[in-house]
Amino acid sequence: MSNPVSRIEPKMVSGAKPETGHFEEFMAHPAFFLLRAWRECGEVAAFDLAGQRNILMTGPAAQEAVFRAPDPTVLSAAAAYQYMVPVFGQGIQYGATFEMERQQTKLMATAMRAARMKGYADIIAKEVDDWMASWGDEGEIDVLAVFEALVLRTSTHSLMGSDFRAKLTDEFGGLYHELESAVSPEAMLDPHGSGDALKRRDRARARLQELVLAEVEERKQSGRQYDDMIDTFMQSTLDDGRKLPEHLIPGMVVWIMFGGFHTSSNTSAWTLLEFARNRQYMAELMAEVDGIYKSGGDLSYASLREIPLLEGFIYETLRLHPPLCTLARQVMQPFTFKEYTFNVGDTLVCSPYVAHRVPEVYPDPERFDPHRKLPDNPFAYIPFGAGMRKCVGNAFGILQVKSVMCAMLSRYDFELVGPPEDVRDVMPSLILRPTEGARVRYRRRR
Ligand code: HEM
Repeated sequence: MSNPVSRIEPKMVSGAKPETGHFEEFMAHPAFFLLRAWRECGEVAAFDLAGQRNILMTGPAAQEAVFRAPDPTVLSAAAAYQYMVPVFGQGIQYGATFEMERQQTKLMATAMRAARMKGYADIIAKEVDDWMASWGDEGEIDVLAVFEALVLRTSTHSLMGSDFRAKLTDEFGGLYHELESAVSPEAMLDPHGSGDALKRRDRARARLQELVLAEVEERKQSGRQYDDMIDTFMQSTLDDGRKLPEHLIPGMVVWIMFGGFHTSSNTSAWTLLEFARNRQYMAELMAEVDGIYKSGGDLSYASLREIPLLEGFIYETLRLHPPLCTLARQVMQPFTFKEYTFNVGDTLVCSPYVAHRVPEVYPDPERFDPHRKLPDNPFAYIPFGAGMRKCVGNAFGILQVKSVMCAMLSRYDFELVGPPEDVRDVMPSLILRPTEGARVRYRRRR
């Protein structure tokens, strides 16, 4: 859309430095910076990341304009996310052509289809049972560390099968950690730079490739069939009838695991912390979960669908603490929104962190309210994005968090160790999570 008549420049956020613009402030905490940008400039806020003009677009109308724009001709996700290419490898996702990337995403959606969810729910429930078997009657946990370890097990087991899960070592989790640490503002500026974090990222990716390819090889040798993600990728064909090339399978696995690992573990950690600091809902939550067990329900997918207060907690957690805070698209053709115009090469950013704090959409936005009614407009509540690139793992992500929380609440009561204000949104990378080392105390329920 272009409108040559009434064009105005978007307002620039204050505080830009001559050389680096807002880069340092953004880097210190992207979500806090974006919140300041919106408070100062409103719906359309321009900022400068070391010479790259970015525009934060906030509010349902602005977000709709971005998520509905044709990709890749008008706005391109691939151009904005090139810093992810070294994380998954060439030929994968934004390191592939647009057509190939769309086919790969379709394969992922196949593996995530609803029919698989019941099986995934059973696997997750078993992992949680095993995990909590050693907890005893009471104790303390480091919430983030616990969920990183647990979600690594649940996702690896459900997506990559029991054999791979059985071989899971600490090494695997460590490698993922190295990949996440490299998704940083520095990497956005120079994805192929020579910093230590980027070197570690490249070594980690190479090692993960090796581990997954070894699993593929073993499956081919044994001829055994599995009902999991690796199998889906091994059996899948592209639109032209060719099989998905084998050398791309590790990249696909790393991509899907990466898409789900830190998003789900950080959301689980924040959800448990919100239980612990909003204890006024605890009795209601426990009664709800007990109701499911009493009616003879296991943690099957069917019963997982009907836990309204627990779901309210998770959706409210995702509103206030969305793990992905900077959803970006690069302008490929001059693009107009209302009276503003954006140039080819600008980056448009939608931030769930900011979008979910607009008071006209979410009255009293900072208040945690698990009974809050979420807006019907699909472009207003965006923890999973919106439009053609909306998260394909959405249902699986929610399923994971729900099953884990359900299992925990049925056994234990939780309270915070330390003052609630010590638990904050931190961003050591571009992924938001709670303060490292935040702890809760658990006590077995009578
Ligand atoms: C709480 C959990 C999750 C959150 C908050 C989340 C969030 C998101 C968001 C915001 C996007 C859109 C990015 C954009 O528009 O630029 C996205 C895309 C994606 N997510 Fe998730 N995600 C979660 C879980 C998962 C899981 C479990 C998987 C896979 C197992 C997954 C796989 C993907 C993939 C493959 C895409 C790219 C889709 C495309 O480009 O068409 N996510 N996710």
